[in-house]
Amino acid sequence: MTKTVKITDTILRDAHQSQIATRMTIEQMIPVLETLDHAGFESLEVWGGATFDACIRFLNEDPWERLRTIRKHVKNTKLQMLLRGQNLLGYKHYADDVVDAFIQKSIENGIDIIRVFDALNDTRNLKTSVASINKYGGHAQVAICYTISEVHTDDYYVELVKEMEAMGAHSICIKDMAGILTPYRAETLVKRIKAVTKLPLQVHTHATSGIAEMTYLKAVEAGADIIDTANSSFAGGTSQPATESMVIALRELGYHIDVNLEDCQKVAEHFKAVKETFIESGVFNPKVLEADPNTLIYQVPGGMISNLLSQLKEAKQLDKFEQVLAEVPKVRADLGYPPLVTPLSQMVGTQAVMNVLSGERYKLVPNEIKDYIKGYYGKSPAPISPELIETIVGKNAEIITVRPADLIEPEMANVTAELGDIADSVEDVLSYALFPQIALPYLKKKHDPFYDVPEQNVTIIM
Ligand code: CO
Repeated sequence: MTKTVKITDTILRDAHQSQIATRMTIEQMIPVLETLDHAGFESLEVWGGATFDACIRFLNEDPWERLRTIRKHVKNTKLQMLLRGQNLLGYKHYADDVVDAFIQKSIENGIDIIRVFDALNDTRNLKTSVASINKYGGHAQVAICYTISEVHTDDYYVELVKEMEAMGAHSICIKDMAGILTPYRAETLVKRIKAVTKLPLQVHTHATSGIAEMTYLKAVEAGADIIDTANSSFAGGTSQPATESMVIALRELGYHIDVNLEDCQKVAEHFKAVKETFIESGVFNPKVLEADPNTLIYQVPGGMISNLLSQLKEAKQLDKFEQVLAEVPKVRADLGYPPLVTPLSQMVGTQAVMNVLSGERYKLVPNEIKDYIKGYYGKSPAPISPELIETIVGKNAEIITVRPADLIEPEMANVTAELGDIADSVEDVLSYALFPQIALPYLKKKHDPFYDVPEQNVTIIM
């Protein structure tokens, strides 16, 4: 029997998030949305991750409107988004009622599949999201954040998968945001997971280190059902392997794949022209395309690399890039091996930048790292040394061990009241609940076209 491999194309989300810091606009997408719909993908990843933030912060776009527009043009293919569990699309934990409302509105506005993860793989932080996705009839794809450390063994991941299935997952994803999943480890991990669950298994990796195609091949051979690839126009490097090339290679090996390559080619032609404009404006940094084996050593995801580059560029310290990269795994080990995924990737990245630029480790510590040490993000995968805890938060700081969101009071009523008639919809309230500082001037302007938006000092955190 011919085995079928399904494909999720990431061109509208992860591909441009990883290569051009999520700067693609809806106008640049519209001309090929129907072609993408026709191309036969299992799903299109179109929303979530950094798109929501980038839309408001940099593109003057209503992220909800973007989603509705995509849905209007993509009538048949399932739309997929990436959600950071209790962090939603932001960088902190939100109250359960915000999580519930956000998921309800995401599904109402057109999302079919929600890939949900927690940066620490702390399943307590996934509980509310998974319950709400089920409640509103969405597909809950629960992701394990793949990382490498002494505690992240195949046994560890298998136990996680069992917990996720029991929570109500409809499918499982191995989310390798850093592109550090090697072909052999993909094979063993996929086999182990397939042995304990009948749920579909999707694999997500990045081509950063140059091994992603091999990883996908071994994963597919071992029984993975779906892989994430990107249209060739924004593929490779910090993005996913090219859709067209993977399809051709896998078909030759006898796999059945429902993807129309002519449609892919039309999409590629369109986005190659779009990419030219980003090359001309300097947004596209050719560094993101280099095969970088350092990724396997430093375990730094693609989005984080382009982010560190722009942080250092702004600080005019681009020459410290290698030093910062070397500092990242040290900070990560100090902090109990958190997987490098948003928001932990930004936090670890910022701490590494501070450690290098200030010339003294942990002399400057952002509040987010202090909160992490105190347990407000969840449980660290490995324990943190008491000495470091004392250095960062002092001897008598209170460390919490409950689910962080248990300590957060319901927020929807308050934010709704705060916004008053500036909000035209629950979606507006949610934009404000997630990103109060940037959403407020944006919503004021949307509500009243004569409102003068003040100049903002914008820190790029992607
Ligand atoms: Co990714």
